[in-house]
Amino acid sequence: MDDRLSRAAFERARTVTPGGVNSPVRAFLAVGGSPRFIARAHGPYLYDVDGNELVDLICSWGPMLLGHAHPGVLEAVNQAAAHGTSYGAPTLAEVDLAAAIIERAPVEQVRLVNSGTEATMSVLRLARGITGRDMVVKFAGCYHGHVDALLAAAGSGVATLALPGTPGVTAATTADTLVLSYNDRAGVREAFARYGDRIAAVITEAAAGNMGVIPPAVEDGIGFNAFLAQICHDHGALFVSDEVMTGFRITRAGQYGIDGVVPDLMTFGKVMGGGFPAAAFAGRTDLMQHLAPVGGVYQAGTLSGNPVATAAGLATLDLATPQVYAHIDRISQTLRAEVTAALAAAGVPHVVQAAGNLFSVFFVSGVDRVPDYATAAGQSTQTYAAFFHAMLDQGVYLPPSAYEGWFLSAAHDDGAMERIVSALPTAARAAARAQSVLEGTR
Ligand SMILES: Cc1ncc(COP(=O)(O)O)c(C=O)c1O
Repeated sequence: MDDRLSRAAFERARTVTPGGVNSPVRAFLAVGGSPRFIARAHGPYLYDVDGNELVDLICSWGPMLLGHAHPGVLEAVNQAAAHGTSYGAPTLAEVDLAAAIIERAPVEQVRLVNSGTEATMSVLRLARGITGRDMVVKFAGCYHGHVDALLAAAGSGVATLALPGTPGVTAATTADTLVLSYNDRAGVREAFARYGDRIAAVITEAAAGNMGVIPPAVEDGIGFNAFLAQICHDHGALFVSDEVMTGFRITRAGQYGIDGVVPDLMTFGKVMGGGFPAAAFAGRTDLMQHLAPVGGVYQAGTLSGNPVATAAGLATLDLATPQVYAHIDRISQTLRAEVTAALAAAGVPHVVQAAGNLFSVFFVSGVDRVPDYATAAGQSTQTYAAFFHAMLDQGVYLPPSAYEGWFLSAAHDDGAMERIVSALPTAARAAARAQSVLEGTR
């Protein structure tokens, strides 16, 4: 597949932008090779600058639930833009978008922001402001955007005070962040036993999707989210569910649609912006009333509730009917079965995990389940890289990292699915070859 124009674009991009990209994973560092520069997208397809048509399994990392350039979304966007692109004053559409979120998720009030990062940053400030406490619990491998306090290195199963995960984040910033192992209830109990009166909030991805897909585990009939909500309440802390990735995507009501756990506060993004920069944090009225201008916790934004982004989000939620979710559920199930069959036929050890319609493939050996980051980190990223490139060579664009979910859309029709399914055996054999090279060098 010719990618000369993409390579030339990458060369040029690297001279004007660090690493040539505006978000690190786009640079293909985790899989090697040169990233494709995208010229346009339609339905389930991306078209790169060399003219290659690629079936898109990223969907902009979640937002494009309806596929690219959906006519209903485009019409809403064009109409909104024709009326002016930003006012810095309230609009009716913002109220409608908040109401649409409230209709699907267990929240009473919504504050719109511009990115998932802004949502989680603001929700932590709010939780700390409400409780008057400093500490925040997060889980290793859960990504909540590049919020300083949440970019903390993974701790062990016990409560360890986190070290900064990146230069530029000071030890003081993360000193109040506890990093625990996902799905590890003993670790959470221990953290609360030790720091219970200092913990403002536990923040978790509603279902983990940024270390591969790891659903909250159910033990003795109680899901991990229900367990977290209870232990928070027992200690006067707030339970914050980050549904930026899962919200309005993995089901109509996100992970809440699966486990029914009502958090104190929630964050949303991606789908609710319809491919534009829009996100939100939300929760019970008594908690949200602590925000300015009603309460004392300050939060603001020049472009918050931007009319074009709001129109795109509203149109997307309107058009995301039960049929849309039923279609994505069905093709997700088909694809999981096909991936499993192809990898099994090629003898490649792996685990496929899903939360609703979002799934990922872990190239792990010797385990039949991946419950946490430590297990996910045991996967062979080289095997994934071989699989990824073999798919790309056949016109299928998977996430360029083994730690990401595969995103489908309502626009993935029989033709797109056929393209993916027919590429799988070759990619599975490429993965098998990479695996045997690795085993030979061990
Ligand atoms: C669960 C979760 N929270 C927050 C974020 C941050 O969102 P954004 O990239 O819009 O800042 C992401 C982004 O992938 C996410 O997956």
